[in-house]
Amino acid sequence: MAQANPWSAYIDRIREAHTPEALDTLEHELFGRKEGAMTLAMKALKDLDAEGKKQQAQELNTWKKQLTETIAEQRTALLHPSDDALASSDAMDITLSLPPRERGSLHLIPSFMEHAADVFGRMGFDVATGPEVESEEMNFDMLNIPPDHPARDAQDTFWVQGKDKRVLRTHTSPVQIRYMREHKPPLRMICMGKVYRKDADATHSPVFHQLEGLMIGKDVSLANMKAVMVNAVRELLGRDVEYRFRTGYFPFVEPGLEMDIRWQGDEQTREGNWLEVVGCGMVHPNVLKNCGIDVEESNGVMPRQLKPTWQGFAFGFGIDRLVMIKHQIPSIKMLFEGDMRFLRQF
Ligand code: PHE
Repeated sequence: MAQANPWSAYIDRIREAHTPEALDTLEHELFGRKEGAMTLAMKALKDLDAEGKKQQAQELNTWKKQLTETIAEQRTALLHPSDDALASSDAMDITLSLPPRERGSLHLIPSFMEHAADVFGRMGFDVATGPEVESEEMNFDMLNIPPDHPARDAQDTFWVQGKDKRVLRTHTSPVQIRYMREHKPPLRMICMGKVYRKDADATHSPVFHQLEGLMIGKDVSLANMKAVMVNAVRELLGRDVEYRFRTGYFPFVEPGLEMDIRWQGDEQTREGNWLEVVGCGMVHPNVLKNCGIDVEESNGVMPRQLKPTWQGFAFGFGIDRLVMIKHQIPSIKMLFEGDMRFLRQF
C-alpha cells in the first residue's frame, strides 16, 4: 500500500490552521533552514543519480510551490475572514450578547413636558418660551395685579438685586403678555418652564414648573376651556382621572377657577385627597387691553353679545404636582434631589 504523501498531509494541516501562530509553526516545520522537511528533502536530492534527481526535483518543486501558495492563502484568510468563515468558526460566537450598557433617560419633569407638548400640539397649541428673570411689570402690572397685592410681598417673591426691580418669575403668566404682544389673535399657545416662590413643604418647592395655556378667539368660551383642560389631564394622567372645578381668584382672569385632582396623599397624611393642580379662567379684559387687543368692538348699535369681540381663557398647571399624581410620588422634593435609587424607577 502506497504511503500517504507527506506533502498532501501538510496541505491539509495548513488549511486547518486557525491562527497565524499555527501557520508560522507549520511553515517552519516545512521550510526551516536546518530541519525543515522540504529543506531536508531538497538536500537529499544530491544523493540520487542523475535521472532520479531530475524527476524528484521536479516533483518537489511542484509541491513546494503548492505548499507556499496554500500558506499564503491561509494567511490572507485569517487576516480577512469572510462572513461565512466567521459564522462557522468556533473561535467566535456571534450569538454572544454584550453586557448591558447603562443608558441615561429623561428626568420625569422634561419627559412629562415632552408628552404635554405633544398632547397640546394635537389640539393646535403653539409652544412659547419666556425669560425666568422677569420685569416687575410683566410678572405683575400687565397681569392686572395691583401694586399692593400680597403676591408681590417679599414673603413670596425672589427679587433680583438692582435698580430695575426684576424678579424671578413667580408664574409663567407673563409669557401670556409677551406672546399676545407678538402674535395677533386668534391664537393658542402653551409655555412650560421653571417658576420661583419662597415656599417649601411636601407639595411646595421654591423652584417648580408650570404649564401656562392661552387661547384667544372671537367665540372662545369657558366651556372650551374645560374641554381643553379635561382632555389634557385625561391624556396626561389617564382616562379615569377624578377632577373637580371650584371658583378661585386671580386678578388676571374673570371669572376665575381652580381645578383639583384626586390623589393618594402626601408623605405626611397619606390621605387620598384633592390636590389643587391649576388656576384658570377667562382672560380679564384689562390684560387683553394691555396687550393691544381690541375688546370693545361693539358699534354701540348692536348689543355686545351679538357682536363677538376677542376673548379667551388661560390656565397655569403645576407640572410637578401632575407628575406626583401620575407616578404616586408623596413628596415634591424627590423630583429635585437627584437620588438615583428613585430616578432609576422611571
Ligand atoms: N399664574 C397663576 C398661578 O401661578 C395660575 C393661573 C394661570 C391662573 C392662568 C389663571 C390663569 O397661580
